Amino acid sequence: MGYVMFKRKNQNFNVLPTHLAIILDGNGRWAKRRGLKRTAGHKAGVVALKATIKNCFDLGIKVVSFYAFSTENWNRPKEEIDTIFSLVRDFVKNDLEEIYNYDVKVVASGDYTKFPADLVEELEKCFEKTKNGKTFILNLCINYGGRAEIVRAVNNIMQSGKKSVNEDEFSKFLYTADLPDPDFIIRTSGEQRLSNYMLWQCAYSEFYFPKICWPDFDKSELIKALNEYGKRNRRFGKIKEN
Ligand code: FPP
Repeated sequence: MGYVMFKRKNQNFNVLPTHLAIILDGNGRWAKRRGLKRTAGHKAGVVALKATIKNCFDLGIKVVSFYAFSTENWNRPKEEIDTIFSLVRDFVKNDLEEIYNYDVKVVASGDYTKFPADLVEELEKCFEKTKNGKTFILNLCINYGGRAEIVRAVNNIMQSGKKSVNEDEFSKFLYTADLPDPDFIIRTSGEQRLSNYMLWQCAYSEFYFPKICWPDFDKSELIKALNEYGKRNRRFGKIKEN
């Protein structure tokens, strides 16, 4: 079996996921345990997000997706939603500068156009600016829901006039049309469910559910997760090859 050695900085893995997708969970609990407001948990969550992006890039992962705002998150208190919007705004305006150095292409999955107009504008500037990035893809899953994505795809297929599509053609109508399916999905905080994330794309994903809350997900946790991924035996429905 041919193992590919990946190395961008100080770390060797026998196999790395091409596409790592992360469900950021536990910001609220992280804050509550410290006697802080939930919004403080989201602020700490952005710190972990920035560090994880850098770590993924350094380790040689090609595509990283973050589930940062779901179609169901609109049901949270307005103050919390506004804080999340301003954190995304700050991130796009200020923090992406460093990430631009990674030859990154920033894309979104989800109907981010429902976000405040100025934020939509900032996001679109960022997509435009990075559209030729070749080394690394950062996929922000914002106002994303797996069922909404599938229904949108079906509606777009009907509008296109097609009478039927196969699986590959269907995939091209999803937000992730230009991305490989996620190889590895991590959800922090100990919850073991997908919560409407990448429902179509996760058909052969490996899952990992560390107990720690998202703000505590540091480089050592990422490495632990990737080592676990390296031990998985992915067969895609076939018999294991020797
Ligand atoms: C999950 O924790 C976290 C969220 C729903 C929001 C995450 C959003 C950010 C960190 C904003 C920044 C995003 C970008 C792209 C810069 P939770 O609140 O569900 O935690 P709980 O289950 O403990 O309540």
